[in-house]
Amino acid sequence: SKLEMFVDELPHLPKIHGFDVVSGVPQSKSLVIGMFKKEWKFHRDLPPTPVYAYGVSEDLATVPGPTIEALKGIDIHVTWQNHLPPKHILPWDPTIPTAIPANKLGIPTVVHLHGGVVEPESDGFANSWFTLGFQEKGPTWTKQTCHYHNQQQPGNLWYHDHAMGLTRINILAGLLGAYIIRHPQSEAHLGLPTGDELDRLLIVFDRSFRTDGSIYMNCTGDNPSLHPHWRPEYFGNAIIVNGKAWPRVTVRRRKHRFRILNASNARYFRFFFTNGLQFTHVGSDSVYLNKPVVTNEILLAPSEIADVVVDFSESKTNTAILANDAPYPYPDGSPVNEVDSKVIKFFILKHREIDRWRVPKTLMQYPRPDLSSASRTRYITMYEYMSTTGKSTHLYLNGKSFEAPVEETPKVGSTEVWNVINLTGDNHPLHIHMGLFVALDQIELVNAEEFRKCMMRMNDAIKCQISKYARGKRVEVPAHEKGWKNVFKIKPEFVTKILVRFSYIHSNESYPFDATAEPGYVYHCHILDHEDNEMMRPLKFIE
Ligand code: C2O
Ligand code: CU
Repeated sequence: SKLEMFVDELPHLPKIHGFDVVSGVPQSKSLVIGMFKKEWKFHRDLPPTPVYAYGVSEDLATVPGPTIEALKGIDIHVTWQNHLPPKHILPWDPTIPTAIPANKLGIPTVVHLHGGVVEPESDGFANSWFTLGFQEKGPTWTKQTCHYHNQQQPGNLWYHDHAMGLTRINILAGLLGAYIIRHPQSEAHLGLPTGDELDRLLIVFDRSFRTDGSIYMNCTGDNPSLHPHWRPEYFGNAIIVNGKAWPRVTVRRRKHRFRILNASNARYFRFFFTNGLQFTHVGSDSVYLNKPVVTNEILLAPSEIADVVVDFSESKTNTAILANDAPYPYPDGSPVNEVDSKVIKFFILKHREIDRWRVPKTLMQYPRPDLSSASRTRYITMYEYMSTTGKSTHLYLNGKSFEAPVEETPKVGSTEVWNVINLTGDNHPLHIHMGLFVALDQIELVNAEEFRKCMMRMNDAIKCQISKYARGKRVEVPAHEKGWKNVFKIKPEFVTKILVRFSYIHSNESYPFDATAEPGYVYHCHILDHEDNEMMRPLKFIE
């Protein structure tokens, strides 16, 4: 029972405007968005799938959720309401640190605005979860209504669940959506393709289904005596875009802008067009690039965003498939097959149009990273722990559990250098809440095994003489990934140097809230199965 590809139309996601316009002046707005259990048709021939979906009502809830449209400078207040019945549709595992309501009355959820510069009380801290009707709440829960300031630069964000130990299954169930911050004053003159037809989101993730339509998640742990259900990576064999498996879309023979988000748990995508069409990158995670960069392919880790323009007037064919050839896990896992190597089919109208949209030579002029401004240097190490049978038991950052006391305590407004050392065999997307960062350098470790042994014993990069090992080959950061980002792919057995800014990148204005407040923030690997099994650490600001 193979599902036929390219039979469902690529859906437009519903939009929610996060502002009201009163006599031509945009005003701040309050929204109520719920999480509902409902059924979702992922494919014409697949029975409806039980999902968790965000929406203003159960009827209007979708997977992915509605796109929240924000304007720079206009606050949004969102009351996220949990309407989920108590029994989870997916298997969870109490042997990893997990939000468990005392009376088991509901499904713990908490929403994080990924890429948002947000007060700690509204950032979706993993222990700030709540259940149906706020009946039960996690230890750091503070309030019902989240405040999003939108003072930051325009760009592409997303919102998703972040509950302790449940993020991988809550997102897998459908709790994710896009959030765009626009700033017409600085974006309009760029001349990029605009409007619902020419400026589209593509939210891509992988899922597996049973024949009854339900989401299939292998629920026998790799190492069942330790973790009966947790597995180190979830991979699905169907590729879903905007809520449909392998959709089709008709496009005009002119430029289109696509904001592509990889919302998978663990799958990396390396996208390319089967007819050789190219991508012109104009932005990445959250912000614009300084200038456009053309590539033939896009490697996108979970939670990365590519904001690209594709010019279909350059197509020599009338159809093109957006394909994927990234092994999973990345980079040394299984090769894709004829199913997970296909994403969307584009049908390009024959008529060539006059196109007044363009890609300008320069985009946004954000300051370049300034190393001399860094007030401190940290070493951040990624570890994977194995059982004697060679199965993953858990992953840590800096050899510490999430519960161990906070160590990363930057000053508000400061800039820091983080040397991120990956001692595992896989690539991990590092995401830092509040921090925008620039990847400066990637240097391979020589004698990595020797260094790893020392680190497993001492857990101290200086004592283990990192400088003796960090002198292998140097790999350039790809041009389209050289801008300000909030996720970066950390190569295995490399040291990746990043410059992190804990302030706005476009101004020295201070935050319009107290970033030092409880419960603080987090940084983590964005492979959700890793994040849930403790590849996450607290991050707290000090004055
Ligand atoms: Cu996209 Cu901490 O999350
Ligand atoms: Cu990871």
